[in-house]
Amino acid sequence: MRHVCITGSTSKLGTSIADFFVKNAWNVTMHYHSSPKNLDTYLSNSNTRLIRGDLRKHKDINMLSELIHKSDINLLINNVSILYSAEKKKIDKKFVDVLNVNYVAACALTKAIYEHSIQHNNMRTFHVINILDSELCFTSDTLTEYYVTKHALYRYTLEAALCFAPHVRVNGVALGPTIRNENQSEEHFKKISEAAPLNYSNEVSEVLAALNFLINSGSITGEIIHLGGGRHLSNKVMSFF
Ligand SMILES: NC(=O)c1ccc[n+]([C@@H]2O[C@H](COP(=O)([O-])OP(=O)(O)OC[C@H]3O[C@@H](n4cnc5c(N)ncnc54)[C@H](OP(=O)(O)O)[C@@H]3O)[C@@H](O)[C@H]2O)c1
Repeated sequence: MRHVCITGSTSKLGTSIADFFVKNAWNVTMHYHSSPKNLDTYLSNSNTRLIRGDLRKHKDINMLSELIHKSDINLLINNVSILYSAEKKKIDKKFVDVLNVNYVAACALTKAIYEHSIQHNNMRTFHVINILDSELCFTSDTLTEYYVTKHALYRYTLEAALCFAPHVRVNGVALGPTIRNENQSEEHFKKISEAAPLNYSNEVSEVLAALNFLINSGSITGEIIHLGGGRHLSNKVMSFF
């Protein structure tokens, strides 16, 4: 049984992750939010199915949880995230949205995998990998909620690994700048990529290699693989944009 569900999988890094699993003959459930540009390519593959959900909404989080619960999905990759520039001095709907998309959805889907694993009683064949951010010492005046939710998911990865053992392994891959955001200039992206202790961040291929390693290492749980050239060790502050 090799069936992966990847959230936010029809853009940027999510697409590369989905392609990796398709090439390796997995069944792939691709979650997306807005319409994917290359819909036909995915639909033409009999091992791939697309499921739409707005993870700001609890109704859609529950729908995806239910789908995981009832399917034969045994690997979940929580890749989805939104970058949000917050209104500093009030809590508005956007604030709740970023918590739901970046954190609550990942926790709810992890619990769905656990419930599913209990039904099947196949220990350690179920696995959750959270895509994290290597900027663990970073303080941002523009993306507070993004970094706070990524820190929370980092912490949740460790808690969930213990809580859901021996049924589910829970791991993370923390990335440095990997694919440029549309609001970043190429020059600035290069600058922040090279601001790591190794003067280098990471390539998409390293993310895929890290995923492959975790998937094939049945004894590993509660592990975060830090890519990103040592950024998680550094408190060098740089503006994202
Ligand atoms: N890119 C980097 O350099 C970098 C660096 C460090 C960490 N990361 C982490 O790597 C992961 C992928 O990054 P990325 O840059 O490739 O991400 P991205 O393309 O900006 O966003 C990922 C996905 O989030 C989905 N999404 C947005 N709003 C949503 C909503 N309301 N409901 C459900 N889905 C929603 C988008 O779906 P639609 O496109 O369908 O709307 C998109 O596919 C993220 O967890 C990010 O934190 C990335």
